[in-house]
Amino acid sequence: MADTLTITDNRTGKQYEIPIQDGTIRATDLRQIKVRADEFGMMTYDPAFMNTAACRSKITYIDGDNGILEYRGYPIEQLAEHSDFLETAYLILFGELPTAQQYERWSREITLHTMLHTNIAKLMEAFRHDAHPMGMFLSTVGALSTFYPDAKDIFSEASRRLQTIRLIAKAPSIAAYAFRHSIGRPYNQPDNELGYAGNFLNLLFRMTELEYQPNPVLERALDVLFILHADHEQNCSTSTMRAIGSSHADPYSAMAGAAAALYGPLHGGANEAVLRMLNEIGSIQNVPAFIKRVQAGEERLMGFGHRVYKSYDPRAKIIKRIADLVFEVTGTNPLLEMALELERIALEDDYFVTRKLYPNVDFYSGLIYQAMGFPVDMFPVLFAIPRTAGWIAQWEEMLTDPDQKIARPRQIYVGYSKRDYVSREKRK
Ligand code: SDX
Repeated sequence: MADTLTITDNRTGKQYEIPIQDGTIRATDLRQIKVRADEFGMMTYDPAFMNTAACRSKITYIDGDNGILEYRGYPIEQLAEHSDFLETAYLILFGELPTAQQYERWSREITLHTMLHTNIAKLMEAFRHDAHPMGMFLSTVGALSTFYPDAKDIFSEASRRLQTIRLIAKAPSIAAYAFRHSIGRPYNQPDNELGYAGNFLNLLFRMTELEYQPNPVLERALDVLFILHADHEQNCSTSTMRAIGSSHADPYSAMAGAAAALYGPLHGGANEAVLRMLNEIGSIQNVPAFIKRVQAGEERLMGFGHRVYKSYDPRAKIIKRIADLVFEVTGTNPLLEMALELERIALEDDYFVTRKLYPNVDFYSGLIYQAMGFPVDMFPVLFAIPRTAGWIAQWEEMLTDPDQKIARPRQIYVGYSKRDYVSREKRK
């Protein structure tokens, strides 16, 4: 049997042999299917890209039916157990786990780029006291493009590596500045003796102590949460990063757009939406009534469902285990009981089971962040920090892929056909 699709166009009786590669056909191979020779030719119609592969990638593999997630072939469970975020970021970005020497150099390079230009502090001062930290984060990432014009040299590998280091290193610093701005406290400076997650906690929470000592359990929990959020193949924000990058914009401008996409409550804003939903439900007694409103289509159970996972998100399983460790230190989040009851009901209820709606990465992560002392509006920012590694890796893969060019989808035009201008006095 040949690896081809035989298509018969019943409008003309013509037959076409379309090659199949990697279980797909090239959409442009359909353009030969026409009724009249002067036609544009057949297209596919796929709103929200439900069934369209936009690229070939070696970075992340997801099997949605079996709840499998692998970065460069390594199962997420093993990386969460044995790795740390900087090592996982290196793996995602460069394709292999670093040797001890490579890891030492990589973490040194990141450490030496965590400081922000003093004008960035002035820029962030301009935000209102109640500005949403994610709005501050994405604006400031975009502003970095004006501080590093060398980033426009996107086909220089050395420039791409330097911008990669700057973005991985500065994402936590920008996030911490946004948090400190919102609580009216002075910005902290990085402590080069601390690791990636530990220094982030230092930037966020150091008060008058000369040396901030991060709680090792919370530091490790944050590091593992960063590993879990580092990449997730062609999700909405990553596809945005690729699309913006395809016009050859610099990586800071592309990442500002990716962060904007992540901000949406259906995507990275879901962890914040989950906490707001739990607070709105108010008590475990109100859970059955809320579930009824979800079944009636009046509400969404935020933190549930996924375009790809039609089984339990493997990240949610790991996050539930981290929650137990964190709550031993911080005390249990009172909303946990309600979240567990929502999950218990949803996993049995026909509405969710038939739609294959399971907890995703956002359902429990917010409970941990809140217990660690983060305000709810910081949650999307905590998603954006680690996803910086995935966005850059996917951006670079797109740039160096000979198959790729500027993203420009087609459309089906369903508007008015040609009509003549009517002067204003004659309009009804
Ligand atoms: C992330 O893509 C990624 O990989 C994303 C992410 C990553 O790491 O980058 O994994 C991170 O964004 C996780 C998802 C976080 N979002 C939420 O938790 C928001 C709530 N979830 C949904 O809005 C929804 O499940 C999506 C957006 C996640 C997926 O939406 P789809 O695939 O477009 O599915 P859909 O909206 O078409 O829903 C299919 C059906 C519909 O019912 P019917 O109209 O067929 O009757 O399921 C229903 C939906 O109404 N449904 C839900 C629901 N999610 C889907 N009903 C109630 N509650 C929900 N959460």
